[in-house]
Amino acid sequence: MTQDAQAAVTVPRLHEFKQQGRKIVALTAYDFLFARLLDAAGVDLVLVGDSAAQVAAGRESTLPMTMDEALYHCRMVRRGIRRALLVADMPFMSYQITPEEALRNAARFFKEAEVDALKLEGGAAIAETIHRITRAGMPVMGHLGLTPQSVRKFGGYGLQAKDEGAAEQLRVDALALQEAGAFAVTLEKIPAELARRVSAELEIPTIGIGAGPDCDGQVLVLYDLLGLFEEFRPRFVRRYAELGEVVRDACRRYGDDVRAGKFPGPQESY
Ligand code: KIV
Repeated sequence: MTQDAQAAVTVPRLHEFKQQGRKIVALTAYDFLFARLLDAAGVDLVLVGDSAAQVAAGRESTLPMTMDEALYHCRMVRRGIRRALLVADMPFMSYQITPEEALRNAARFFKEAEVDALKLEGGAAIAETIHRITRAGMPVMGHLGLTPQSVRKFGGYGLQAKDEGAAEQLRVDALALQEAGAFAVTLEKIPAELARRVSAELEIPTIGIGAGPDCDGQVLVLYDLLGLFEEFRPRFVRRYAELGEVVRDACRRYGDDVRAGKFPGPQESY
């Protein structure tokens, strides 16, 4: 890696990446081991997503995730990262009740897990909260489109902002987030053309997931990309490995060896 490629990724550097037309590479991580692998692979932004509730904890949605669970994942990931920007998802209802409570919970991520930034779902309705958090020195990334914490309102995980009115609302929300001080916005599962227009209009970077190729960066859930989470596979996921099969096969072969008395052998014994 060159010296520039090794330098720590900061919020101002992400803005430079956008100005230079250099795409931002983001992935989720939930523990030390994978965080270290992602960092070594040159990922720019590591998100401790509340998708952990589903892909790591086996829950049906992100809604049950607690502050303590989120902080536990963040502390593990922090220990694995040197270069990437570490962003934490604030859990459902940890920031929606009052801006004061949001501020208090936001501070816990910086004090107890030493994250670099936070991600909050929602548009103009949470702009005041984002303003308060960023004014206190804690960078915030917004999240628009398919915001999984609103799955009960949407009635599922379908494409968002399909009609003209909803697309205009998303555009207005994105500008409100920028105005409130957000340093970037995640755009999830919206038409590619809308994501292209919003990315061109905003000064801050957009990070897409199911939002087409014209966002300033891309993010995926790590276990989707690795083929480890096999329950469902959204169209926007590209699998770069089939680790689910690799793990099953390795464990089957281990089981066969143990049952046949072939493990441990002389080299693995003392
Ligand atoms: O929780 C999550 O994993 C996310 C996605 C945008 C990657 O928020």
